[in-house]
Amino acid sequence: MSRWQVIDGLQIAIDGPSGSGKGTIAALVGAELALPVLDTGLLYRYIGWRAAEQGVSLDDENAVLSMLDRAIASMLWKPQGIFLKEADVEKDCTSQLRDENAGARASQVAAMPQVRAALLGVQRDIAKMGCIMDGRDIGTVVLPDAQAKFFLTASQRERARRRWSQLKAKGEDADLERIAAELKARDARDKDRDCAPLEKAVDVIHIDSTTMRMDDVVDRILNILERRKLIKKL
Ligand code: DC
Repeated sequence: MSRWQVIDGLQIAIDGPSGSGKGTIAALVGAELALPVLDTGLLYRYIGWRAAEQGVSLDDENAVLSMLDRAIASMLWKPQGIFLKEADVEKDCTSQLRDENAGARASQVAAMPQVRAALLGVQRDIAKMGCIMDGRDIGTVVLPDAQAKFFLTASQRERARRRWSQLKAKGEDADLERIAAELKARDARDKDRDCAPLEKAVDVIHIDSTTMRMDDVVDRILNILERRKLIKKL
C-alpha cells in the first residue's frame, strides 16, 4: 500500500546517460508511488538480443528491419521485465538483457530510425495508464506531455565506478578502465547519433547525482512531485 495519492495517469520521464542511476531511481520512485516502471533501454536491448539469437548482423540494417515486426510481436512487457512469448510459452529474458553485450548491441539498434519509430508506439501504449519511464528520449520524444521530467547525470568516472561495483557484486570479472572506455564510447554514440540523440527537454529538472545517495535523489524527486501537486501524502 502506497503512502501517496497519485493523480490519474501520472507520467514521469527520467532520462540520462548510461550508469547515471536512472534505472535504480525509477524503480525506487515507482515502488514508493506504486506506479509501473518501464526501463525503455530493455526494449532496445531485446531487439539487439533477438537479432543476435537469429543470426542477424547488426551491421546489416535491412536484415534487422526485416526481423523487427516479428520480434516486437513476440515481446511482452510486464512490470517485472521483458518476456519472449512464442507459441503461448513465456520466457523471462530480463536478466540476459542486462549484460554488457546486450547493452552494446542495444546502442547499435537504437541508432536505427525505424527501430525507434517501431518502439515509439509500444512505449506510448504502456504509458497510457500512467507510469515512470526511464531512457534517453522520454521527455523529448516519447512522452513530451509527461507532467514531470527529470534528467539525471553523474560524472563519467562515477558512472563507470557504479557499473564496475554492480558487476563485482554479481561476482563478475570487471575491469574499471575497460568499463570507463566503453562508457565513453557509448556516451558518444548515444549523444552524437542523428536520430533522437540524448538531449535535455526544455522543461526538465536536472539532478547531478555524482555525490548524492540514491535515497536523497528519490526524496528530491518526491518533493518536487508533491510541490507540483502531482502526488499527495495520505
Ligand atoms: O539504458 P540502457 O543502458 O539499458 O540502454 C541501452 C541502449 O539503448 C543505450 O545505448 C541507449 C539506448 N536507448 C535509447 O537510445 N533510447 C532509450 N529510450 C533507451 C535506451
